[in-house]
This record gives sequence, structure tokens and C-alpha cells, in this order.
Amino acid sequence: MSFRLDGKVAIVTGGGRGIGKAIAKRFAEAGANVVIASRKMESLEAAVKECAGLPGKVDAVQCHVGRADQLQSLVEEAEKLFGPIDILVNNSATNIGQGPALEVSDEALLKTMEVNVLSVHRLIRLLVPKMIARGTGGSIINLASIAGMRPQPGGLTYSFTKAGLIMMTRIWAIEFGKHKVRVNAICPGLIQTDFSEYFWKSEEHMARLKATQPLPYLGQPEEIAGAALFLASDESSYVTGTTMVIDGGATAK
Ligand SMILES: NC(=O)c1ccc[n+]([C@@H]2O[C@H](COP(=O)([O-])OP(=O)(O)OC[C@H]3O[C@@H](n4cnc5c(N)ncnc54)[C@H](OP(=O)(O)O)[C@@H]3O)[C@@H](O)[C@H]2O)c1
Repeated sequence: MSFRLDGKVAIVTGGGRGIGKAIAKRFAEAGANVVIASRKMESLEAAVKECAGLPGKVDAVQCHVGRADQLQSLVEEAEKLFGPIDILVNNSATNIGQGPALEVSDEALLKTMEVNVLSVHRLIRLLVPKMIARGTGGSIINLASIAGMRPQPGGLTYSFTKAGLIMMTRIWAIEFGKHKVRVNAICPGLIQTDFSEYFWKSEEHMARLKATQPLPYLGQPEEIAGAALFLASDESSYVTGTTMVIDGGATAK
């Protein structure tokens, strides 16, 4: 066994920047061929360029994960590029609709559910039957959040979808285990990306983090990528249905 992914094919949604890009890069360094997918071709293409020369190939497919037809095309395109999919990283997410619970509209809640949760269920429905039919197993990694483990004021839509994803991960894991399809979640704490800049640009928030977090610094996307590589590789062959918390110890207390 090893942390190598030679001969494996992965899809990483939201792989053009942030945590998704760090994961795609780490997978390609480990030998996997990786399809990154999101709405903006510009950032996807820049990420593809950054990964040129790695042992595995990285290619891009444009996809809005909230659209069922685009998810179907993503899977078809990815299979055309590199063959059957072994690893799926559900990383794309939105945090629109943050604010007081009583101000959350139907539209914001439905859209957050569609992008953060329904997209994952749809991709799993598209890919897992093929993994089962091939009999080769597979690894599915869902990017949840510590926000899905503990409530945050003003965070109803986002926390609710991430909590749902943690529970769905466990249900998929118990249903797919007999087919060697493993499903796990990663719950990052605060990681420095575009997504979270509201928090890490706040001096007050950062002062609190430095004063209270056991590892008193802002996490980096690369600090999530190693865990994803572990969960994708055979080194985690006995791991399914788990939630790996990577938060500098923020939730340890
Ligand atoms: N950063 C943190 O502190 C933190 C903490 C806990 C959990 N997380 C989770 O980690 C994951 C990655 O977040 P990140 O921090 O790396 O954020 P990021 O740098 O802002 O990246 C988000 C990615 O999602 C893609 N995306 C957004 N909406 C999409 C849509 N409708 N269809 C397809 N792709 C879409 C974006 O690409 P396009 O704009 O090109 O579509 C982008 O590549 C998310 O699931 C997030 O909830 C992050």
C-alpha cells in the first residue's frame, strides 16, 4: 500500500482555486489523472497550467454543480478524457444567504441546498452504480465544515447543508460499504481562501483565533489536501463513514 494514486481517475469539483485546487494538485502529484470542474473556465485553465508537468494529468470541464444536466455532461466528459472514475471529491459550495435566520428566503435556502447537497447526491447517483458494476470500489470525499458540527449565528443555510452532508456521508457509507465504495467527509476549520475572507480579513476574528485556537494560525488549503490524499488512497482502505476534522484544534475544546 502507498499514498500513490497511479492509474486512478478523479473528479474534483471546485478544483480551480482554494482547497479544491490544492487537492487536485496533490492527487496529480500522486499520479492520478484529475478532472477539475466549476463555473469559471478562467480559473480552471490557470489551475490546469499550474499542474502541467506533474506525474498525473489535470484537465478542466466547465460545470455549474447546481444544474443536473451539467453534472451529467461533467461525468461524460471526464470519462471521455481519462476513463472510469475512481475518486470523487465534492468540494464546490456556496455560502449565500448568510444572515439572521428569520431573513433567510426560500430561494436562498433552496439554492444553497441545490449547490451544497443535491449536487453531491446527483453526482453520487451518476457515479456509484458504475463503481459498483465495475467491482473495483471507489472513494468519495465530501467537503463539509466544522460549521456543520456546531451552530453559528447567522449561518443557518450553510451550517444546515454541511450538517446534512455529514449525515448523508454516513448513510452512503453504510449502504455502499459492501461494494468497496468508501465515503468520507472532511470538516475544515478556517482555511485561507476566497470563500472565507470575510473571517480572516477581520482583525477581531483573527485575534480571537490566535488567542483561543490550539494551533494559533490560519489554516492553508494544502493542509487539507494531505487528508484528501489519505482518504483517496488505499492507505485508508478500512476507513468509511468518518468525518475528519482539520481545524487547528478549534473544536477540540
Ligand atoms: N475556506 C474555509 O475556511 C472552509 C472552511 C470549511 C469548509 N470549507 C469548504 O471547503 C470547500 C472549498 O471551499 P474553499 O474555501 O476552497 O472556497 P473557494 O476557494 O471559494 O472555492 C470554492 C470553489 O467552489 C466552486 N463553486 C462555487 N459555486 C459553484 C457552482 N455553483 N458550481 C460549480 N462550482 C462552484 C468555485 O468555482 P467557480 O467560482 O469557478 O464556480 C470554487 O472553485 C467548500 O465546500 C467549503 O464549504 C471551507
